[in-house]
Amino acid sequence: MNNKRIGVFDSGVGGLTVVKELIRQLPNESICYLGDTARAPYGSKTKDTIIRFSIENVSFLLKRNVKIIVVACNTSSAIALDELRKNFKINIIGVVEAGARAAIDITRNKRIGIIGTRATIESKAYEKIIKMKDKNIKIFSYATPLLVPLVEEGWLEERETELILRRYLKYFNGKNIDTLLLGCTHYPLLKNLIKRIMPGINIIDSAIEISKTIRAMLESSGMLASRKNNNKHEFYVTDTPDNFNKIAKMFLKESIISAKKIDLKKR
Ligand code: DGL
Repeated sequence: MNNKRIGVFDSGVGGLTVVKELIRQLPNESICYLGDTARAPYGSKTKDTIIRFSIENVSFLLKRNVKIIVVACNTSSAIALDELRKNFKINIIGVVEAGARAAIDITRNKRIGIIGTRATIESKAYEKIIKMKDKNIKIFSYATPLLVPLVEEGWLEERETELILRRYLKYFNGKNIDTLLLGCTHYPLLKNLIKRIMPGINIIDSAIEISKTIRAMLESSGMLASRKNNNKHEFYVTDTPDNFNKIAKMFLKESIISAKKIDLKKR
Protein backbone atom coordinates (compact mmCIF):
# COMPACT_ATOMS: atom_id res chain seq x y z
CA MET A 1 0.00 0.00 0.00
CA ASN A 2 1.15 3.51 -0.74
CA ASN A 3 -1.18 6.47 -0.22
CA LYS A 4 1.11 9.11 -1.68
CA ARG A 5 -0.24 10.92 -4.70
CA ILE A 6 0.47 10.08 -8.34
CA GLY A 7 2.38 13.04 -9.84
CA VAL A 8 1.19 14.05 -13.30
CA PHE A 9 2.48 16.88 -15.45
CA ASP A 10 1.53 18.40 -18.76
CA SER A 11 2.28 21.59 -20.65
CA GLY A 12 -1.16 22.85 -19.63
CA VAL A 13 -4.71 21.66 -19.46
CA GLY A 14 -4.57 18.74 -21.94
CA GLY A 15 -3.13 16.25 -19.44
CA LEU A 16 -6.50 16.27 -17.72
CA THR A 17 -7.59 13.66 -20.30
CA VAL A 18 -5.07 11.41 -18.54
CA VAL A 19 -6.30 12.48 -15.08
CA LYS A 20 -9.88 11.68 -16.08
CA GLU A 21 -8.91 8.18 -17.15
CA LEU A 22 -6.71 7.63 -14.07
CA ILE A 23 -9.61 8.55 -11.79
CA ARG A 24 -11.88 6.16 -13.72
CA GLN A 25 -9.45 3.25 -13.64
CA LEU A 26 -7.96 3.90 -10.19
CA PRO A 27 -10.65 5.54 -8.06
CA ASN A 28 -8.74 5.14 -4.76
CA GLU A 29 -5.72 7.07 -6.01
CA SER A 30 -5.17 10.78 -5.51
CA ILE A 31 -3.36 12.91 -8.02
CA CYS A 32 -1.02 15.87 -7.88
CA TYR A 33 -1.24 17.62 -11.27
CA LEU A 34 1.02 20.32 -12.62
CA GLY A 35 0.00 22.19 -15.78
CA ASP A 36 2.77 24.46 -17.03
CA THR A 37 0.24 26.90 -18.47
CA ALA A 38 2.64 29.86 -18.42
CA ARG A 39 4.94 28.17 -20.93
CA ALA A 40 2.46 26.14 -23.03
CA PRO A 41 2.34 25.12 -25.80
CA TYR A 42 5.33 22.79 -25.80
CA GLY A 43 4.50 21.36 -29.22
CA SER A 44 6.16 24.20 -31.11
CA LYS A 45 9.26 24.50 -28.85
CA THR A 46 12.76 23.13 -29.37
CA LYS A 47 14.16 19.98 -27.81
CA ASP A 48 16.39 21.75 -25.26
CA THR A 49 13.56 23.94 -24.04
CA ILE A 50 11.14 21.02 -23.69
CA ILE A 51 13.76 19.04 -21.73
CA ARG A 52 14.49 21.99 -19.42
CA PHE A 53 10.81 22.63 -18.72
CA SER A 54 10.15 18.93 -18.13
CA ILE A 55 13.01 18.67 -15.60
CA GLU A 56 11.62 21.66 -13.71
CA ASN A 57 8.16 20.10 -13.68
CA VAL A 58 9.43 16.82 -12.24
CA SER A 59 11.47 18.68 -9.61
CA PHE A 60 8.30 20.45 -8.48
CA LEU A 61 6.28 17.22 -8.25
CA LEU A 62 9.04 15.57 -6.22
CA LYS A 63 8.77 18.37 -3.68
CA ARG A 64 5.09 17.39 -3.36
CA ASN A 65 6.30 13.92 -2.37
CA VAL A 66 4.55 11.91 -5.09
CA LYS A 67 5.04 8.13 -5.51
CA ILE A 68 5.49 8.01 -9.29
CA ILE A 69 5.63 10.55 -12.12
CA VAL A 70 3.37 10.39 -15.15
CA VAL A 71 4.38 12.42 -18.19
CA ALA A 72 0.91 13.10 -19.58
CA CYS A 73 2.21 15.47 -22.26
CA ASN A 74 2.99 13.60 -25.49
CA THR A 75 5.51 16.24 -26.52
CA SER A 76 7.48 15.97 -23.24
CA SER A 77 7.16 12.23 -23.29
CA ALA A 78 8.46 12.03 -26.87
CA ILE A 79 11.38 14.37 -26.30
CA ALA A 80 12.36 14.45 -22.63
CA LEU A 81 11.61 11.02 -21.15
CA ASP A 82 15.15 9.59 -21.47
CA GLU A 83 16.67 12.75 -19.97
CA LEU A 84 14.18 12.69 -17.11
CA ARG A 85 15.01 9.07 -16.33
CA LYS A 86 18.71 9.95 -16.34
CA ASN A 87 18.15 12.84 -13.92
CA PHE A 88 15.71 11.33 -11.41
CA LYS A 89 15.52 8.05 -9.52
CA ILE A 90 11.73 7.95 -9.19
CA ASN A 91 9.73 5.75 -11.59
CA ILE A 92 8.69 7.92 -14.57
CA ILE A 93 6.05 6.69 -17.03
CA GLY A 94 5.33 8.37 -20.37
CA VAL A 95 2.31 8.31 -22.66
CA VAL A 96 4.31 7.53 -25.79
CA GLU A 97 5.42 4.03 -24.75
CA ALA A 98 1.91 3.07 -23.64
CA GLY A 99 0.30 4.33 -26.85
CA ALA A 100 2.89 2.70 -29.08
CA ARG A 101 2.45 -0.66 -27.37
CA ALA A 102 -1.33 -0.53 -27.73
CA ALA A 103 -1.06 0.31 -31.44
CA ILE A 104 1.28 -2.63 -32.06
CA ASP A 105 -1.13 -4.97 -30.26
CA ILE A 106 -4.20 -3.89 -32.18
CA THR A 107 -3.01 -3.47 -35.78
CA ARG A 108 -3.81 -6.41 -38.02
CA ASN A 109 -2.38 -5.17 -41.31
CA LYS A 110 0.70 -3.56 -39.66
CA ARG A 111 -0.04 -0.11 -41.02
CA ILE A 112 -0.35 2.58 -38.34
CA GLY A 113 -1.05 6.30 -38.61
CA ILE A 114 0.07 8.79 -35.96
CA ILE A 115 -1.01 12.39 -35.39
CA GLY A 116 0.52 14.80 -32.88
CA THR A 117 2.18 18.17 -32.37
CA ARG A 118 5.02 19.20 -34.64
CA ALA A 119 7.65 18.46 -31.96
CA THR A 120 6.22 14.99 -31.26
CA ILE A 121 6.04 14.03 -34.94
CA GLU A 122 9.51 15.40 -35.74
CA SER A 123 11.02 13.52 -32.78
CA LYS A 124 9.93 10.19 -34.36
CA ALA A 125 9.59 8.87 -30.80
CA TYR A 126 6.57 6.70 -31.62
CA GLU A 127 8.26 5.27 -34.72
CA LYS A 128 11.40 4.36 -32.77
CA ILE A 129 9.47 2.38 -30.16
CA ILE A 130 7.17 0.69 -32.68
CA LYS A 131 10.03 -0.25 -35.04
CA MET A 132 12.08 -1.60 -32.13
CA LYS A 133 9.27 -4.03 -31.30
CA ASP A 134 8.26 -4.91 -34.88
CA LYS A 135 10.28 -3.61 -37.80
CA ASN A 136 7.68 -4.82 -40.32
CA ILE A 137 5.13 -2.25 -39.21
CA LYS A 138 4.67 0.66 -41.61
CA ILE A 139 4.15 4.01 -39.96
CA PHE A 140 2.64 7.17 -41.41
CA SER A 141 2.89 10.21 -39.15
CA TYR A 142 1.50 13.67 -39.62
CA ALA A 143 1.69 16.86 -37.54
CA THR A 144 -1.73 18.40 -36.86
CA PRO A 145 -0.91 21.56 -34.85
CA LEU A 146 -4.21 23.40 -35.35
CA LEU A 147 -6.13 20.84 -33.32
CA VAL A 148 -4.88 21.95 -29.87
CA PRO A 149 -6.27 25.52 -30.07
CA LEU A 150 -9.56 24.23 -31.54
CA VAL A 151 -10.05 21.85 -28.61
CA GLU A 152 -9.13 24.55 -26.08
CA GLU A 153 -11.73 26.75 -27.72
CA GLY A 154 -14.28 24.00 -27.03
CA TRP A 155 -14.94 23.45 -30.74
CA LEU A 156 -15.24 19.69 -30.49
CA GLU A 157 -18.02 19.06 -32.99
CA GLU A 158 -17.98 22.32 -34.98
CA ARG A 159 -18.06 22.39 -38.77
CA GLU A 160 -14.78 24.32 -38.86
CA THR A 161 -13.05 21.66 -36.76
CA GLU A 162 -14.44 18.93 -38.99
CA LEU A 163 -13.15 20.74 -42.09
CA ILE A 164 -9.65 21.10 -40.64
CA LEU A 165 -9.60 17.50 -39.41
CA ARG A 166 -10.78 16.24 -42.81
CA ARG A 167 -7.99 18.16 -44.48
CA TYR A 168 -5.36 16.78 -42.09
CA LEU A 169 -6.66 13.21 -42.22
CA LYS A 170 -6.63 13.29 -46.05
CA TYR A 171 -2.91 12.60 -45.64
CA PHE A 172 -3.86 9.01 -44.74
CA ASN A 173 -5.96 8.45 -47.89
CA GLY A 174 -4.65 5.51 -49.87
CA LYS A 175 -2.22 4.52 -47.10
CA ASN A 176 -4.52 1.70 -45.97
CA ILE A 177 -3.89 2.18 -42.23
CA ASP A 178 -6.10 0.17 -39.87
CA THR A 179 -5.02 2.04 -36.70
CA LEU A 180 -4.70 5.73 -35.85
CA LEU A 181 -2.72 6.71 -32.77
CA LEU A 182 -3.80 9.96 -31.13
CA GLY A 183 -0.40 11.29 -30.07
CA CYS A 184 -1.51 14.38 -28.19
CA THR A 185 -3.29 15.05 -24.90
CA HIS A 186 -6.10 17.01 -26.56
CA TYR A 187 -7.08 14.63 -29.32
CA PRO A 188 -9.21 12.18 -27.27
CA LEU A 189 -11.80 14.97 -27.18
CA LEU A 190 -12.00 14.77 -30.98
CA LYS A 191 -12.56 11.01 -31.06
CA ASN A 192 -16.21 11.22 -32.18
CA LEU A 193 -15.36 13.44 -35.09
CA ILE A 194 -12.37 11.30 -36.10
CA LYS A 195 -14.51 8.14 -35.98
CA ARG A 196 -17.02 9.82 -38.27
CA ILE A 197 -14.30 10.80 -40.77
CA MET A 198 -12.45 7.47 -40.62
CA PRO A 199 -15.11 4.86 -39.80
CA GLY A 200 -13.90 1.40 -38.93
CA ILE A 201 -10.42 2.50 -37.92
CA ASN A 202 -8.89 1.47 -34.54
CA ILE A 203 -8.28 4.61 -32.52
CA ILE A 204 -5.58 4.55 -29.85
CA ASP A 205 -6.22 6.96 -27.00
CA SER A 206 -2.95 7.26 -25.07
CA ALA A 207 -4.78 8.52 -21.95
CA ILE A 208 -6.55 5.16 -21.66
CA GLU A 209 -3.38 3.20 -22.43
CA ILE A 210 -1.12 4.99 -19.95
CA SER A 211 -3.70 4.55 -17.19
CA LYS A 212 -3.69 0.79 -17.83
CA THR A 213 0.12 0.80 -17.61
CA ILE A 214 0.07 2.74 -14.34
CA ARG A 215 -2.55 0.44 -12.83
CA ALA A 216 -0.50 -2.63 -13.73
CA MET A 217 2.68 -1.06 -12.40
CA LEU A 218 1.14 -0.01 -9.07
CA GLU A 219 -0.52 -3.40 -8.66
CA SER A 220 2.62 -5.40 -9.37
CA SER A 221 4.77 -3.29 -7.04
CA GLY A 222 2.24 -3.22 -4.18
CA MET A 223 1.96 0.56 -4.45
CA LEU A 224 -1.81 0.97 -4.86
CA ALA A 225 -3.52 3.37 -2.47
CA SER A 226 -5.77 1.88 0.18
CA ARG A 227 -9.53 2.16 -0.05
CA LYS A 228 -9.51 4.54 2.89
CA ASN A 229 -7.12 6.95 1.21
CA ASN A 230 -8.48 10.39 2.13
CA ASN A 231 -6.07 12.49 0.12
CA LYS A 232 -7.63 14.98 -2.25
CA HIS A 233 -6.46 15.67 -5.78
CA GLU A 234 -4.23 18.73 -6.07
CA PHE A 235 -3.94 20.92 -9.17
CA TYR A 236 -1.16 23.44 -9.77
CA VAL A 237 -0.57 25.80 -12.69
CA THR A 238 2.20 28.24 -13.55
CA ASP A 239 -0.07 31.02 -14.79
CA THR A 240 -3.38 32.42 -13.61
CA PRO A 241 -5.76 29.53 -12.82
CA ASP A 242 -8.88 31.22 -14.23
CA ASN A 243 -8.58 30.00 -17.79
CA PHE A 244 -7.34 26.57 -16.67
CA ASN A 245 -10.31 26.11 -14.33
CA LYS A 246 -12.68 27.08 -17.12
CA ILE A 247 -11.24 24.73 -19.76
CA ALA A 248 -10.74 21.97 -17.15
CA LYS A 249 -14.50 21.50 -16.89
CA MET A 250 -14.53 20.35 -20.50
CA PHE A 251 -11.66 17.90 -20.04
CA LEU A 252 -12.67 16.53 -16.66
CA LYS A 253 -16.42 16.52 -16.71
CA GLU A 254 -17.17 15.04 -13.31
CA SER A 255 -15.44 17.49 -10.99
CA ILE A 256 -14.89 21.19 -10.80
CA ILE A 257 -11.24 22.09 -10.41
CA SER A 258 -9.75 24.86 -8.43
CA ALA A 259 -6.09 25.08 -9.33
CA LYS A 260 -3.42 26.97 -7.43
CA LYS A 261 -0.80 29.15 -9.12
CA ILE A 262 2.80 28.34 -8.25
CA ASP A 263 6.22 29.68 -9.21
CA LEU A 264 8.57 26.93 -10.40
CA LYS A 265 11.60 29.10 -9.67
CA LYS A 266 10.83 29.31 -5.93
CA ARG A 267 12.49 26.62 -3.86
N1 DGL B 1 0.25 18.56 -24.20
C1 DGL B 1 0.76 18.66 -25.54
C2 DGL B 1 0.96 17.27 -26.12
O1 DGL B 1 0.36 16.31 -25.69
C3 DGL B 1 -0.16 19.48 -26.42
C4 DGL B 1 -0.16 20.94 -26.11
C5 DGL B 1 1.20 21.59 -26.29
O2 DGL B 1 1.69 21.71 -27.44
O3 DGL B 1 1.78 21.97 -25.28
O4 DGL B 1 1.73 17.11 -27.03
